[in-house]
Amino acid sequence: MADQQFHSHDQPYPIDQSSVRGKFASNIGFLLAAVGSAIGLGNIWKFPYIMGENGGAAFMLVYLACIILVGTPVLIAEFAVGRQGKTSAVSCYKVIAPGTPWWLNGLLGVLAGFVILSFYSAVAGWVLKYFMIGVFEGYGAYNAETSGGLFVGLITGFDQPLIYQFIIMALTALIIYFGIEKGVERAAKILMPLLFAILALLLIRSLTLKGGMAGVEFMFKPDFTKLSGKGVLEALGHAFFTLSVGMGAMMTYASYLDGKSNLATVGATVATLDTVIAIMAGLVIFPAVFAFNMDPGQGPALIFITLPQVFAEMPLGRLVGSSFFFLIFVAALTSTISILEPVVTWLVDDVKVNRHVSTAIASFLIFLVGIPACLSVAEGGALDRVLFTLAEGTYAEKQYRFFDILDDASSKFMLPIGGFILCLFLLISWKRQSALQQVAGEKGNPRSIILNVWYWLAVTVAPLGILTVIIFGILDLIGKSPFH
Ligand code: TRP
Repeated sequence: MADQQFHSHDQPYPIDQSSVRGKFASNIGFLLAAVGSAIGLGNIWKFPYIMGENGGAAFMLVYLACIILVGTPVLIAEFAVGRQGKTSAVSCYKVIAPGTPWWLNGLLGVLAGFVILSFYSAVAGWVLKYFMIGVFEGYGAYNAETSGGLFVGLITGFDQPLIYQFIIMALTALIIYFGIEKGVERAAKILMPLLFAILALLLIRSLTLKGGMAGVEFMFKPDFTKLSGKGVLEALGHAFFTLSVGMGAMMTYASYLDGKSNLATVGATVATLDTVIAIMAGLVIFPAVFAFNMDPGQGPALIFITLPQVFAEMPLGRLVGSSFFFLIFVAALTSTISILEPVVTWLVDDVKVNRHVSTAIASFLIFLVGIPACLSVAEGGALDRVLFTLAEGTYAEKQYRFFDILDDASSKFMLPIGGFILCLFLLISWKRQSALQQVAGEKGNPRSIILNVWYWLAVTVAPLGILTVIIFGILDLIGKSPFH
C-alpha cells in the first residue's frame, strides 16, 4: 500500500483492479450470464425427467419450496461474497475474513468445477450429436424397437461421444479465452435471446398437438401418492444444481460486477427465470409425450430415447426435433462456460497464470478427466471393454461407473457441502451489517424487510435443509437409506 502511494506520482490515475481483471459492461449482461449459467441441462433434461418419475405436479410444489427457501438464499449469498471480494472464489473468503480457513471452501468449489464439467460436457456432447442427427438424417430411424438401442449404441461407443465432448470443451474454452466482457457477456447476450425464442416456438408446437393437454394436466395436477421421501431429497439437491450454487460459479461471476444493483432482486430474477424455463421445457416435452402415448417416467432417457420417437411421428418433427436439441445445446453451453470460469479465474487471480494459458490448461485437464467419465456411462461402455481386455478376461462382472461417481460426488456432496459451509461463513465470519449492505448495493437500504428475511433464511432454514440432504446422502452411500 505504502509502496503504491510512494509511486503515485508516476501513475496519475489509481490502478483500477477491474480494468486488469475485466468486468461485465452492463447489469443486463451480468443478469443474462447468470441466467445462462442457471438454465442448462438441469432445466431441460433433468427437471422434466425427475418430475416425470416423481408424480408431476406434486414434485413441482416441493421443488418450488426448495428453490425459494434454500436455493435462492444461497444464490444471493454467493453473489454477495463475490461482489464483496472481487477476486477468485478462493480469495473472496480471504478478503472478507483474513487469516481464517474458509478459503478452503473456495478450493472445494474449484475442484467441484472440475468434476462437474467433466461429465456435464459428455451429456452436452450427446445433445450436440442428436442435433446433428436431426440436421443430417432426421429421426425417422427412431421407433419403439430401435430408439433405445441407437442411444445406448452412441453412449457406449468410443469415438463419437469423445469427439462431441471435445467439441463442447473447445467451444467453452473459446468463449472463456475472450474474457468476461468479450467472451462470457457477449455469448450470453447472443445465446440467451436465441434460447427464449426457440423455446417459445417449440411451446406453441407442442401445446397445439392433439391430445397434448393430458401432458399439461400431468404437470399441474398433483398426485402425492407418487412422491416419496427420495423425491423430496431429489428436489432439494436439484434446486442447488439448477441454480448453479455451491461451487462458487455465481460467486465468480459476481466478482466481475460493480456495486450498484440490489443482489436480492438479481437473485430472485435468476431463480424465477430458471424456474419458468424449466416449466416451459416440461410444457414442451410432456404434451408431446402424452400426445403420442408414451411413458413420461422413463428417467434420464426421456429426451434421448422417448422424444426422438415423438419427433419421428410428429408433423414437422425433424425441424422441431433439431430445434429442440439445438436449444439444449445453447442452454448447456452458457452453463459450461460458467463452470470453467471459476477454475480459470482462480488460476488467473491466485496462481497468476494469464487467462489464455489458464484457459488452455484448465480445459485440457478437464477434458482428460472427462474421458473416463464419458466412456463409462452405461453397461458395456468403452471403459469396461478396455479394462476387460487389459485384465485379459479375468475382470468380469465389475463395472466402473466413473461417470456416476463424479455425478453423485458433485451433486450429492460437493455442492451441498459447499453451500452449507457458505451459510456457516455468513453466520459466523461475515458481519451481518456488512453482508446486508453488500446485498442492498451502493444505494440500497440494508434494513429492508426482504433483505432481513433473506439473511434469516440463509443462516437458518437453508443450512438445515442442506444438512438433511447431506445426511441422507451419506446414509444412502453406506446402504442405510430409509428410501429406495
Ligand atoms: N445450472 C446448470 C444447469 O441447470 C448447471 C450448472 C452450471 C452448474 N454451473 C454450475 C451446476 C455450477 C452446479 C454448479 O444445467
